[in-house]
Amino acid sequence: MLNYFQKYQAQTSPHPLGLEISHAKGSYIYDIENNAHLDFVAGVSATPLGHNHPKVVEAIKTQLDKYMHVMVYGEYVQKPAVELAKLLAENLPEPLEQTYLTNSGTEAIEGALKLVKRATGRSEIISVKNAYHGNTMGSMSVMGYEERKQAFRPLLPNVTFISFNKFEDLNNITTKTAAVILETIQGGAGFILPQKNYLEAVRKRCDKVGALLILDEIQPGFGRTGKLFGFQHYNCTPDILVTGKALGGGMPIGAFTASKKLMLLLQDNPKLGHITTFGGHPVIAASALATLKEITETNLINETLEKEKLFRKLLVHPLIKEIRGKGLMLALIMENADITNQLILKCKDQGLILFWLLFEPKAVRITPPLTISKQEIKKGCNIILSILNEIIS
Ligand SMILES: Cc1ncc(COP(=O)(O)O)c(C=O)c1O
Repeated sequence: MLNYFQKYQAQTSPHPLGLEISHAKGSYIYDIENNAHLDFVAGVSATPLGHNHPKVVEAIKTQLDKYMHVMVYGEYVQKPAVELAKLLAENLPEPLEQTYLTNSGTEAIEGALKLVKRATGRSEIISVKNAYHGNTMGSMSVMGYEERKQAFRPLLPNVTFISFNKFEDLNNITTKTAAVILETIQGGAGFILPQKNYLEAVRKRCDKVGALLILDEIQPGFGRTGKLFGFQHYNCTPDILVTGKALGGGMPIGAFTASKKLMLLLQDNPKLGHITTFGGHPVIAASALATLKEITETNLINETLEKEKLFRKLLVHPLIKEIRGKGLMLALIMENADITNQLILKCKDQGLILFWLLFEPKAVRITPPLTISKQEIKKGCNIILSILNEIIS
């Protein structure tokens, strides 16, 4: 299969990990030789309940037996999508009331960017350095990492960049600005938390000049940071919340949520302000609904903070310079990229899955399923420590 993988499936990295998967369950992925790999990555934060959670699988199967795709977005009333949007609204503060479901995170960002232009009549978007919002043209335009976008120019005009956590830069947000777009916690940049009062200050500045605030919670959303949404730590509610990844419970999805007043603009001048064939797909919505119910009806979110404490207690080693992030969105910062590469690759051989972050070569991603047990955390941390001892000796 590896031969065919290389021959027929387009790769975007010259060095894919190439693990040949047989099946996956809970916190483990099994390869075709039935070796168990403990998963500290969770499909890059996209499987919050681990692999093949029984309630999610049951919801998918039940919906499969009823119907799959029947019509393009928003024309028919499809219960799983309606219930999902309702449950999201019930768990969000005002004015975040209506949700538009997409097929991926980047598509939801595109929708949000279109909506802010339509709502304000302005075209300037302010993003931040080292931001990541996805890989389509609009999302790439607001990506704050020139090296990865240079080859694809021209991108969207009128996008400018400020520094995350730099309060002085907020003066660049003016009456010409349609919106500021931020990741609540910067992901690709190295799991960088907003400083105290930073998001609040962004919110205030946006309100002062009539700009909208888009928060991208595609990674921190759905309990990973110890609250259902990351912004709930910071006394700042966005005008548009963008989600994805964990929302689908292992299925492909994205969403943007805003006030009804804002969302009504998608219906008019022009109508069909954003359309997509498969958004709100009933099987995916059923998976998302079962996932969101499980996250909100159990103690998983509170446990996240206890599990973070355990990681921080166990992962003490001279080669680990810092542990960044919050909850189960953690990044080990190593002395240099070489140690990071060695650690990730050697852990893979020892049955522990770790991964890189996009723009911080010294970082090792630790984003396990929220359902990971304390015993599994201890087991994985022991592997990390033994490999680090090997590297240092
Ligand atoms: C913060 C953030 N925004 C947007 C995206 C893009 O989402 P997707 O890959 O589903 O298009 C990602 C994916 O990694 C992300 O982490």
